[in-house]
Amino acid sequence: MDIAERVARLKPSATLSINARALELSARGKDILSLSVGEPDFPTPEHICAAAKEAIDAGFTRYTPVPGLPELRAAAAGYFRHFYSVHAAAENIIISNGGKHSLYLLFQTLLNPGDHVLLPSPCWVSYPPMVELAGAKPVMIPTLPENCFKISLLDLQHSLTPKTRMLILNSPSNPTGSCYTRAELDAVAAWGLANSVIIVSDEIYDRLAYSPEGPQSLSPWWEKHPENFVIVNGVAKTFAMTGWRIGYTLADAGLIAAMSRLQGQSTSNASSVSQKAALAALTQGYSHLGIMCRAFRERRDLALDIISSWPDVLCPQPEGAFYIFPDMHRHYRGALADSTSLCAALLDEAGVAVVPGAAFGDDHCLRISYAVAPAVLEQALARIARFLRL
Ligand SMILES: Cc1ncc(COP(=O)(O)O)c(C=O)c1O
Repeated sequence: MDIAERVARLKPSATLSINARALELSARGKDILSLSVGEPDFPTPEHICAAAKEAIDAGFTRYTPVPGLPELRAAAAGYFRHFYSVHAAAENIIISNGGKHSLYLLFQTLLNPGDHVLLPSPCWVSYPPMVELAGAKPVMIPTLPENCFKISLLDLQHSLTPKTRMLILNSPSNPTGSCYTRAELDAVAAWGLANSVIIVSDEIYDRLAYSPEGPQSLSPWWEKHPENFVIVNGVAKTFAMTGWRIGYTLADAGLIAAMSRLQGQSTSNASSVSQKAALAALTQGYSHLGIMCRAFRERRDLALDIISSWPDVLCPQPEGAFYIFPDMHRHYRGALADSTSLCAALLDEAGVAVVPGAAFGDDHCLRISYAVAPAVLEQALARIARFLRL
């Protein structure tokens, strides 16, 4: 069958593909250690699951309003008040089927064919295809491990053209784990404002920030300039709820209304039961966060300790999320001349799943997730070191 061009061009998500292959090999009985996961290995907290069960028992199983339950929209607005002292109304929030869907809707709603979207690279695998699906052009701004994979104002200025419409910022970052400081965020925000570039801040990992400065957000800038900033977040990483598929967007009420029209003509509302679970998540405290954050930080330190001892590997300290992104290219050789072939060999011959940096736009690196038990992390890194004779 002839597939429409826009989908025929679309590549499958590299992270999901590696995971699927690792699971397939495990199912066939191979001993696979996976460091390719993009989700917390903690269970969804019990009170959240209980709220979902109650919703089912109460028959809360029908359509909800398209932009989400009013009380959940208010609770998501409350998240920004609680953590960032930002005042937003329920009408500034739309609830969608995960942060990924929030971003998809946002790009479809804001971007026109020919618009340029600035993307600090390496970046999350889904930004470029989602931007392209909206007919716009991703403009990659390369960053270096020496600069902790962060862009400078000079980089931004060099990439600016009359067509530049948007900048996507992701801090803490998937895949690098790098975090912009408050001062750096403010400088980028001021640059966006001065140049009429809308800044989309993907803050899905905001609670998982380990530097003494702690989590930072662009939502205070949104409050002052609601037409210049959009914030995307969700419950997936903060509450270990990846499968529940609830994301939310904080934006100007007019943009939220436009996104709701698109959501209404495509997916209607997010799952009613998941919305009740998300409501419990956002209104019944964050006590689980300390435990999860501490565990990730310890594993980050463990992974960094081991990887920093590998010769000829460059690895800036990640300050957030649960990824580490070492530059391994000095160990590429023979048939293993790039990140994709090295990752394939690591999976098939060493039994370790990691994601090639090429999937994120940097072929020198591998993305290693430390959202696994420390013993698995240690064992998997030992396998990589043995395989590469480090
Ligand atoms: C940078 C980034 N943004 C957004 C998402 C989407 O999260 P979800 O759709 O699970 O809410 C992810 C998930 O891995 C991510 O890594």
